[in-house]
Order: sequence, then structure tokens, then C-alpha cells
Amino acid sequence: MKVFHTVSGLRDDLNKDRRRGLRIGFVPTMGNLHQGHLALVKQARETNDIVVCSIFVNALQFGLNEDWDKYPRTYESDCEKLRESGCDYLFHPDDIEMYPNGLDTQSRVICPTMTDMLCGASRPGHFEGVTTVVSKLFNIVQPDEAVFGIKDYQQLAVIRRMAEDLCMPVQISAAPIHREADGLAMSSRNSYITDEERPRVTVLKQSLEWIAEQIQDGSRDFSKLEQSAGQQLIDAGFALDYITISNSKTLEPAADDDIEITILGAMFTEKARLIDNLSIVLN
Ligand code: PAJ
Repeated sequence: MKVFHTVSGLRDDLNKDRRRGLRIGFVPTMGNLHQGHLALVKQARETNDIVVCSIFVNALQFGLNEDWDKYPRTYESDCEKLRESGCDYLFHPDDIEMYPNGLDTQSRVICPTMTDMLCGASRPGHFEGVTTVVSKLFNIVQPDEAVFGIKDYQQLAVIRRMAEDLCMPVQISAAPIHREADGLAMSSRNSYITDEERPRVTVLKQSLEWIAEQIQDGSRDFSKLEQSAGQQLIDAGFALDYITISNSKTLEPAADDDIEITILGAMFTEKARLIDNLSIVLN
């Protein structure tokens, strides 16, 4: 695996690969890699000749009171894992390389409406930071395909929408949610969960599954289901951010006759904010 810290270094190699007709797959990350990230790399490996992964903890997508400074940075072990997973190029720029004109004066990419709800409601500016950095990374790598995890369902939907709206010549692919043995969705932020909380955090996934069962059994009182599932999280000792039954494509609140439905949830533990989601197709 070749490691690049500069845009120009990475571009030189990718230009040569492109001239040879090689197909380029891309997996953007913020590092602290777990099996979920590595599954994205393996998926990109299957359909591309060259797999590029980026590690960049993007300050632009963190709120002022969020965990940018504490975000786990595990560069050496990440490199090891990427090498074993078949990554060809690692792009690991520093803040100056990505934002040479500074964060405040950086041009930005905005995807309206879809980013105001769900995680966007409790993390103002977050998705603007994501769409901006992902656009920059797409311009740097110019991949044929980019793979994102369904774990961050809203992020995936927003990026799909951005690529479509801005005619970006990249195929956006989705990878399934990787989970721990007890069902907890893998996340770099799981390291913030205390030992005491750990056995109880599976309530998030269980509450989404409970809603899915109720809907499949014919229940259509979505707001009542959201409320009861939210109460399950509170009863387990966590603070509710949201539980929402949404249209899988638009992320707007689901209508009674919607066929593709995604149930999304977010809750706060003492030091972490955890998210999960579950999609169902009704017939
Ligand atoms: P990060 O949280 O590091 O995640 C990188 C990619 O891994 C995202 O596409 C995310 O959805 C996926 N991922 C994380 N946990 C997963 C799991 N348990 N199963 C499957 N996929 C999982 O998401 C970001 O970084 C950033 O916002 C980024 C897109 C890199 C822009 O800065």
C-alpha cells in the first residue's frame, strides 16, 4: 500500500492509473478503523482495479462542542488493517493540505432540506462539513465508485443526492451495517460507551426492530410507535435524540402508504451519541 500525504502526490499516481484504463474505487473515512470500515474496502476491492482509502478527521463537520479533539486517532494500526484488507493507496492529508485557505473561508457545498432533519437537527452544520469534504475528496481522487456505509443512513442519502444534483461522475454504493455480536452497530464512538452502559446500549437496535415488527403487523400510527420506542430508550437510562419512521428515499416522515420505510434512531449515552437504522419494504 502506498501512502500519500499530499493532493499532488496522490493525483500523479492516479492519473497514471487512469491513463492505463484502471477503474478507481474510493472509501473515505475518519480513521480508527473497525471491521465495518474494512468491509467497505473489501467491497470496493471487488469492483475496482485500484482502491483508495482516505483518513481525515474533518474539523468542518464537527460542532464547536463536539469531539474533534478527542476523536480517536490510531494511524499506525489503521495502516496495518488497510494493508491486510487490500487497499492500494491511503490518502492521509493534514488540515493545511485539505484546507489551505483556512476553515472559515472554505467554499462550501450545501444540500438543503434533507440535512435539516434527523442528525442534522441536533448537529447544525454537520452535513455541510460532510458534503464539502466529500466533494473535495471526490475532486482529488476522481473515483469511478465510492462506497459508504448504511450505518450512516442520512449521510449516504445526502451524498447520493449531492452527487445527483451536482452531476458528479461517480457511482455511490452502499455497504451493509457491521455489528458487534450482540447487535450494536460498530462505530469509532463506541469507545466512549462505559462498561456499565455497554450491556444496555443494544436497546437502540431493539427499539427499531420493535417498530419494524409493529409496522409489519399492520400498525400505521407512526407517531405513537415513535413515542413508545423513544420511551424504551429512556427507560433503559439513555437520553433520546430521535426515533423517526421515514420514507427511505426522501427521509421525510413516512406516509401510511409508503412501501420503502427506514426507521432511524439516535440516543445519547453519558459520553457518546449513538445512531442506528433499519429499512423495511412493505408489500
Ligand atoms: P467514518 O465515521 O470514519 O465512516 C467512514 C465510512 O464507514 C462511512 O461510509 C460510514 O458509514 C462507514 N461505517 C462506519 N461504521 C460502519 C459500520 N458499522 N458498518 C458499515 N459501515 C460503517 O462517515 C465518515 O467517517 C465521515 O463523515 C466521512 C464520510 C469520511 C467524511 O468526513
